[in-house]
Amino acid sequence: MAEGNDTGKGLDRTLSRRNFFKVSGMAAAGAAFGLGLSSVSHAAKPPTVSTVSNDTDYWQWVQDQFVLDPDIVYMNLGTTGSMPLRVLEKYNDYNILNARHPRTFESELGATFGLEDQRATLAAQFGCNTDEICLTRNTTDGLDAVVNGLEFNEGDEILITHHEHIGALSPLNVLQDRYGVILTEVEIPVLNVTDKDQFVNAFEDKISDNTKAILFSHITYKTGTRLPAKALCKLARKKGLISIVDGAHAPGMIELDFHDIGCDFYAAAGHKWQCGPGATGILYLRNGGRDLPTFWTQNSSLYTYTAQSYARGEYDIAYSLQYRGQLNIPAHLAMLESCALWEEIGRGRIEEYVCGLGSYLKQRLRDKFGSTGTLFSPDLPGFTTGLTAFNPFADITDADLITTMVDSLHEKGYQVRYTNFRVELEDAEDAYALRISTHLFHNRQQIDGLVDAIYDVL
Ligand SMILES: Cc1ncc(COP(=O)(O)O)c(C=O)c1O
Repeated sequence: MAEGNDTGKGLDRTLSRRNFFKVSGMAAAGAAFGLGLSSVSHAAKPPTVSTVSNDTDYWQWVQDQFVLDPDIVYMNLGTTGSMPLRVLEKYNDYNILNARHPRTFESELGATFGLEDQRATLAAQFGCNTDEICLTRNTTDGLDAVVNGLEFNEGDEILITHHEHIGALSPLNVLQDRYGVILTEVEIPVLNVTDKDQFVNAFEDKISDNTKAILFSHITYKTGTRLPAKALCKLARKKGLISIVDGAHAPGMIELDFHDIGCDFYAAAGHKWQCGPGATGILYLRNGGRDLPTFWTQNSSLYTYTAQSYARGEYDIAYSLQYRGQLNIPAHLAMLESCALWEEIGRGRIEEYVCGLGSYLKQRLRDKFGSTGTLFSPDLPGFTTGLTAFNPFADITDADLITTMVDSLHEKGYQVRYTNFRVELEDAEDAYALRISTHLFHNRQQIDGLVDAIYDVL
């Protein structure tokens, strides 16, 4: 079992002293939950392409790193992910260490529990500077910090799409009710996606003199459509608006470079497609360049020490948000372990595989159901993701049919969820769809099986 090489010698010694706990503890926990962890084969590093006979073997190796129950094909990454064994081990090791020596982290990981190294590692992987990134609890946590940290006054307008998640809508609704901020929904294309200008024009058409910010999901949770984030942030810059991206579904699924995207803020999850532990997330806050918006650090332990209301750029903005009471250091380290695994496999390679599977699923659904089903997710390069929304029924507004289908698929060994949404902004009724997540531990046979299962249930 490999020790993380970022943990320092002291920790390695501590861990080996209590190796008994690690090995027997994991096995016992595995046995208790029926995981059979000791039988999960895994190597510390992914094999290189040349050491596996073909691509299928390579992705089989990737699949083998996960402890997912083989009796159910888990296809709800959009809600939460599954930690690979290596990540579970890291989490377990540090939880045991923490329980045995509650204050050891400081001496073992260095000042402030090695948080600066953790932030630097994430910054390097996600295309930004260390003073622009912090570890959060989840996407909602990050969005809340951003929305409530910015200055909005009565009559200021924020543009959002008509497919936003409650994680963003909730703090925005507080702004609306508390300060009289105006939220304006922009209709984005759903069944007729063809190019990025559709999205850019939809936002541009709604910008008024009162507009102060735009907020949109990089990948919508409703249909899995990937929005042209870079082009939308460019528009925001051109118009002098703040750009806030809800990136819940992006890390772990697609490659990310925050500087290249050009957004002001990007809040994301570490527990979904990145497959870190629950309650882990990543927040990017631009901290250099033109016109930094005034930002007030909420939910911080440092405000009175380091950061009064300030023009950003002079401070490590993310640092002041990073320190907010006791943190779950084992969870942070475990998420970073998952990031390390993703880096070793290659984030670009993962994106290609995941979006490729997403495209394959869409093609299979079209082939099997033809025009009787409704595919809400685009199958177009640049817009396709690992999230697919599909309704096989003629009546797409019938909630009972979809919930029954979700339950029946579960009985057949496939775990998916449903989403509901307005196809067009002014629709009086919601459409319903199965939402299927395909990730790096899935393969085409599982997708074929799911499509057949939907057909059988139908
Ligand atoms: C688009 C979107 N934003 C935010 C969230 C909230 O995510 P988290 O649980 O990381 O706070 C979700 C959760 O599914 C989501 O889909």
